[in-house]
Amino acid sequence: MWNLTLSDEEFFELRNFISQLTGIFFPDSKRYFVESRVRPRIEFLGLKSFTDYLMYLKFSPLRKEELEILFRLITINETYFFRDELQFKVIEEAILPEIIESKPRNGFRTLRIWSAGCSTGEEAYTIAMIFLEKIKPRFPDLKVEIIGTDINTAVLEIAKRGIYKQYSMRYVPEDYIRKYFKILNGEEFHLVEEVKKLVRFTQVNLMDKFQMVMMRNFDLVLLRNVLIYFDENARREVVSMVYDSMNRGGYLVVGYSETLRNLTKAFKVVYFDKTVAYKKE
Ligand SMILES: C[S@@+](CC[C@H](N)C(=O)[O-])C[C@H]1O[C@@H](n2cnc3c(N)ncnc32)[C@H](O)[C@@H]1O
Repeated sequence: MWNLTLSDEEFFELRNFISQLTGIFFPDSKRYFVESRVRPRIEFLGLKSFTDYLMYLKFSPLRKEELEILFRLITINETYFFRDELQFKVIEEAILPEIIESKPRNGFRTLRIWSAGCSTGEEAYTIAMIFLEKIKPRFPDLKVEIIGTDINTAVLEIAKRGIYKQYSMRYVPEDYIRKYFKILNGEEFHLVEEVKKLVRFTQVNLMDKFQMVMMRNFDLVLLRNVLIYFDENARREVVSMVYDSMNRGGYLVVGYSETLRNLTKAFKVVYFDKTVAYKKE
C-alpha cells in the first residue's frame, strides 16, 4: 500500500498549479478538501503519490483529459434558480430595460447575456425565464442570446439536459413552475424547450486568455459566486477580461456578497435597492 498523504510541499505545489490554471486558490484551511477530492483519483490511476500525480498532470500524453477530470474534482458548483432573487428583480426592472432602451431601433434588437461560471445552468435559465415572462411582452421586437460557460464539463452536461431536482427549485415562483417545467415522477423538473432553446452552454476557463478574447459584445454579464474562490491577482485579471467582453452601456453583476472594490476602477458603480451593479460607460 502506498502512502497517499499530502505533504506540505505537495500541497503548495498542487495549489499553485491549480491557481495558475484556474484562478481558484485553496487556503491552508481547504487542504483536507483538496486531499480528499484528489486522492481517490490518484488511487484509481495506480499512482504512488501526489508528486507523481502532479507529474502526470504536467507531462502525461493524457494531461488534457486529466485536467478536465481535475476541474470536476476541485470546483464548488452550488447553485439554484433565482439565487439572490433581489438581484434578478433589479435586472428585470431596471438593468435590462435600460440596456434595451439604449439600443438603436434599426431592425431587430438583440440582447447578449453571459452567465460566467454557470455551473449546472440555473442562473442562465433563470434569466431566460425572466426574459420570456417579463421582457419579451414589453419589447416584442427583441431577440436574446444567453450563453452559459463553466470550466467544469460535467456541470455543463447537466445544464444542457435541463432536468432538475427539488433542491434547485426552492425559489422558483409557482406560476413559473407551472409554465416552464414539466414535472416527472413528482421529483424531476424538466425545463420546457421554449426556455432551453434560448441558452447555449460551452466550456470556457475564465483564466484562459485565448478563450476569453472570443467572448465579446455582451450587454449583461453575471459573474456571481465565482471570484470568491480566486486569489486577488486572478480576480483582477478576470474582471479586466470580462470588462473587455462587454458592450458600452452594459452591466456586470457579481454575487450578492461580492464587490469589485480594490479590483478595478473601470466600471461605474450603480446603486439599486439593496444591491449594486457595475456599468461599463
Ligand atoms: C458556486 S458556482 C456559482 C454558480 C452560479 N454562478 C451561481 O451564482 O449560482 C461557481 C462556478 O464557477 C466555476 N468556475 C470556477 N473556476 C472557474 C474558471 N476558472 N473558469 C470558469 N468557471 C469556473 C465552477 O466550476 C462553478 O461551477
